[in-house]
Amino acid sequence: MSGRRYYIETWGCQMNFHDSEKLAGALVREGYVPARSREEADVILFNTCAIREKAQEKVFSELGQLRGLKARKPGLVIGVCGCVAQQEGERIFSRAPHVDLVVGPRASGSVVRWVRQLQRADTAPGHRVDLAYREDSVRFPFEAIKREGLHRRKAFVTIIEGCNHRCTFCVVPRTRGREVCRDMEEVLAEVRHLVARGVCEIEYLGQTVNAYRDAHGRTLADLLRATAGIEGVERIRFTTSHPAQMTERLMDAMAAARPKLCPYLHLPVQSGADRVLRAMRRGYDRDGYLRKVEALRARIPELSLGTDIIVGFPGETEQDFRETLSLLDAVEYDMVYAFVFSARPGTPAAAMEDPTPPAEKLARLHRLQAHQRAIQERRNQRWIGREVEVLVEGPSRRDPREWSGRTPENRVVNFPGPSEPGALERLRVTEASAHALRAVRLSGTRESGAA
Ligand code: SAH
Ligand code: F3S
Repeated sequence: MSGRRYYIETWGCQMNFHDSEKLAGALVREGYVPARSREEADVILFNTCAIREKAQEKVFSELGQLRGLKARKPGLVIGVCGCVAQQEGERIFSRAPHVDLVVGPRASGSVVRWVRQLQRADTAPGHRVDLAYREDSVRFPFEAIKREGLHRRKAFVTIIEGCNHRCTFCVVPRTRGREVCRDMEEVLAEVRHLVARGVCEIEYLGQTVNAYRDAHGRTLADLLRATAGIEGVERIRFTTSHPAQMTERLMDAMAAARPKLCPYLHLPVQSGADRVLRAMRRGYDRDGYLRKVEALRARIPELSLGTDIIVGFPGETEQDFRETLSLLDAVEYDMVYAFVFSARPGTPAAAMEDPTPPAEKLARLHRLQAHQRAIQERRNQRWIGREVEVLVEGPSRRDPREWSGRTPENRVVNFPGPSEPGALERLRVTEASAHALRAVRLSGTRESGAA
């Protein structure tokens, strides 16, 4: 059985990316080795995203591409994992009959067992389905995770899975199930394990990461304080926070964990109009959100903020949309991810009346992006002349002579190479655009410290 090759493709959020690292780890532990391409693989797993229709359709079109491969290689096992698997279940087989295995995100611990069974049975296709919402999904043995990040100095660590909110547009509560939290001591054991292997940046993950509360009542506030006390941890991030659960206690802990706690917070607002926020069932209003931003900035003045916005939610009027634009002005975000509303089957919002034509929604998206671009340009200009430290990610995508890294504020900085992934470089910012900074090197780059 050993020497069989696997190939995993991942779409969607960091959570999915990290789940794939667990899937890979589980396969490696069973003697599988990575394949360089789909053609070379004995097992192909798609770890999928169902958040918007486009993401889901992409999965089906890629699955279509595997039909020929499966015909030539009947022993090949094709598995669909993640949120599309949970959302679509058996229906995947009717659209893509060459798929063998459909496994939801909370059942991914069983993928390896299914793969083995299918390979033993040698029946093609297998058509196995496992959509159980396993409570122990958070207890994946962390030593086995096969970290495939940009470099060895940064690692994702799951602390909570699932979501107990019920935003009317969102599939996540259904695809990922109810919240389950890891024990804080186990999380800290993982962090120490990572630091001993040279990791310096830890990013805690959860769909609602600030809802974290373990069986002993320890919260994200406690976890941040404890993490900041671990020698070798240099940068701490967490994502994604829900505004309703952004408590003063947590804000205090963030301030106390500075400077290790990176001054960047992703705090999805979705809309600036109370009417829309209510229809989305977000659990806060515009004023409440703005007050939290103020309370955060009172504690951490240098805090950079990012957000997610949905434009064209059913019934969103021009007036509602303008309130979102004015919220962008009020907050002055450093980063905004904006999406046109996508009706997802089975969600309450999909059944709401939606008279706005798609072209109008797209026009609103473009207006919002232009509006935010001007804000970001202005905010990034302020960095010119300042010294920053970046954790290097790799050569820049546009120009391979340029290298690229991120500041603690999560800003992308491009600078002249050569460098190496995972190095900490000190730079001086010389130029700024809406999406990135350019910089020159200063002497005194710190040890890249790989173990
Ligand atoms: N808590 C989550 C948020 C889930 S999805 C997290 O970890 O990021 C990420 C973003 O996708 C949401 O904040 C929302 O802005 C967007 N989104 C979710 N459902 C959507 C839908 N039906 N249509 C358009 N955008 C959506
Ligand atoms: Fe989705 Fe709302 Fe949870 S956006 S992930 S239901 S907080």
